[in-house]
Order: sequence, then C-alpha cells, then structure tokens
Amino acid sequence: MPEFNLNESKCNSCGTCSSLCPTGSIQMNQYPHQSADSSCISCGHCEAGCEGGAMQINNPNLEPPLTNISSKISPEELGAYMRNRRSIRNYKNKLVSPDTIKEVMDIVRYAPTGMNSQPVKWVILENPSKVKELSSICMDWMKKEVESNSPLSQYVPMESLITVWNTGIDPILRGAPHVFIATASDSSATVDGIIALSHLELALPAFGLGACWAGYLKMAATGYEKVNEFLNLKDDSFIGALMVGYPESKYFRIPKRNKVDIRFLD
Ligand SMILES: Cc1cc2nc3c(=O)[nH]c(=O)nc-3n(C[C@H](O)[C@H](O)[C@H](O)COP(=O)(O)O)c2cc1C
Ligand code: SF4
Ligand code: SF4
Repeated sequence: MPEFNLNESKCNSCGTCSSLCPTGSIQMNQYPHQSADSSCISCGHCEAGCEGGAMQINNPNLEPPLTNISSKISPEELGAYMRNRRSIRNYKNKLVSPDTIKEVMDIVRYAPTGMNSQPVKWVILENPSKVKELSSICMDWMKKEVESNSPLSQYVPMESLITVWNTGIDPILRGAPHVFIATASDSSATVDGIIALSHLELALPAFGLGACWAGYLKMAATGYEKVNEFLNLKDDSFIGALMVGYPESKYFRIPKRNKVDIRFLD
C-alpha cells in the first residue's frame, strides 16, 4: 500500500513535502512519489507542511486531533506558564472528569517519540481508593526494605515515610485522586514515556489541574512485583507516573533556581 496519496490537481510541485521528510521517503519528479526504499514513519510532516493540502498519509490507524486551532503564544506568556508549573502535593477532594482526561490526553499523544513509534500506553487510576491501595502496597515494600536494611533504605528516608504513613497521611501518592502511569511493551521506550509524562505535567495546569512525579511509586514498581501485579501490567513495563488532581494549595511567587550552566562551543 502506498504510504501517502497525492491529489495532483492540488500539487504545485514545490518539493516541500520531500524536504520535510525525515526518512527520505519522498522523491520528486514532476510530482512527489514514494521512494523505492521508503521507510515512512507516519510522522505526517509531508501532509502538515503541504500548503495546498495535496498530500494525505495513508494510515488508517491515525486519528486527527480533537481541535486544530493554531494560536501564537508569546515567549513571556509561555515562560510565565512554564515557570509557574509546580509539583502539587495537596489535592482537592474532587475527581477529574473523563471528558477532561480525554482532552488532556489528546494533547499528550502529540509528544515526540523516537521514530514516531508512539509506544506509550497509559494506566489511569480513576478512583482515590485505588490510589490509596497502591500507596499501601508501596508502604509494604518500604517496610520490607527497612527490615532487610537494604542499600536503598539507607538512601531513601523510608523510616520517616513509614512514620508519616502511620499518622494517616499518605506520603507516597499524597492523597491525589488519580495516578497516571506511562507504560510500554517495548522496554526501550523509556525516553518516550518520560517525554510523554513531561507533556502531561505541562498540559495539566491549563485545565486547572496539577501533578507531581511519583518517584517513590516508581522505586516500588522497580523493586516489588506486587505493584505491577496490582496494575495488571503483564508484559508491559512501568516507565513512570504522575499523581494528578485539582491543587488545594496556591503559590504566590515563582521560587528561585540555580543559574543555568551552559558551555558554548564555537
Ligand atoms: C528519543 C527520541 C529520539 C529522536 N531522534 C531523532 C533523530 O535522531 N532524528 C530525527 O530526525 N528525529 C528524531 N526524533 C524526532 C521524532 O522522529 C519525532 O518526534 C516523531 O517523528 C514525531 O514527529 P513530531 O515531533 O513532529 O510530532 C526523536 C524523538 C525522540 C523522542
Ligand atoms: S508539498 Fe504539496 S504541493 Fe508541494 S510538492 Fe509536496 S504535495 Fe505537491
Ligand atoms: S509521513 Fe513522514 S516519513 Fe512518511 S512520507 Fe510523510 S514525511 Fe516522510
């Protein structure tokens, strides 16, 4: 099957599609055509970059975005938005609606992936009691680590976390109503999963939502099979996770950070 269809009546032979193609899959004669050794990754750059709309990718699995409006954000607006992202550790007792989750994830699925492989699959805990159960499994793991005096228990403040847990506060998933877990069947997809999680974390504040990276959960998933069993991951690997919910706390200013460390090579 050809990887793209061309409407010749709309094509002015400008060659833009060919110049944008990352895999050299488009050659120009009078019109663009698929190269003999095409290795198209369905990235859609040829279709998106054709001003006249002459080019169409031929892949029935692809789905267009929910909205297709382009708006320009100034560097100041973007900088303010990104710098105001904070890790949220106190959440309102309010669920995120399935429609909002759908809208957010429609943005997140546009995160870049190596070779446009789009390998990330999501497990989303919809229910706060499920989140609590998951924290409890992580706690069981921490208790075992402390009991065995493991190297990790000397590096991570597990004893303090257990003490906090015993007071009725969840220091693992912070009482978040939801947890979003990036997984993949391909264990080499870690970078793609982390990028997708970063996109998720950045998209959420636009919906009034906040998130925090669930590092302790990631540690438990790496060291304790019961986490993966609880999530029913089977052969998929746990890449990373974010706690997600409506922020309870407010921030009134942007905290300081280290100066950026850059070395320019001329
Ligand atoms: C981990 C990773 C490695 C990548 N390496 C390359 C690369 O070596 N060369 C390249 O042209 N694009 C590279 N890309 C870009 C992807 O091909 C691109 O994200 C994908 O085709 C989707 O296109 P988009 O970013 O325009 O949405 C890489 C992306 C990721 C996430
Ligand atoms: S970018 Fe569009 S108009 Fe230009 S050569 Fe490709 S298909 Fe034709
Ligand atoms: S979808 Fe991407 S890789 Fe495939 S032909 Fe178009 S530009 Fe090239």
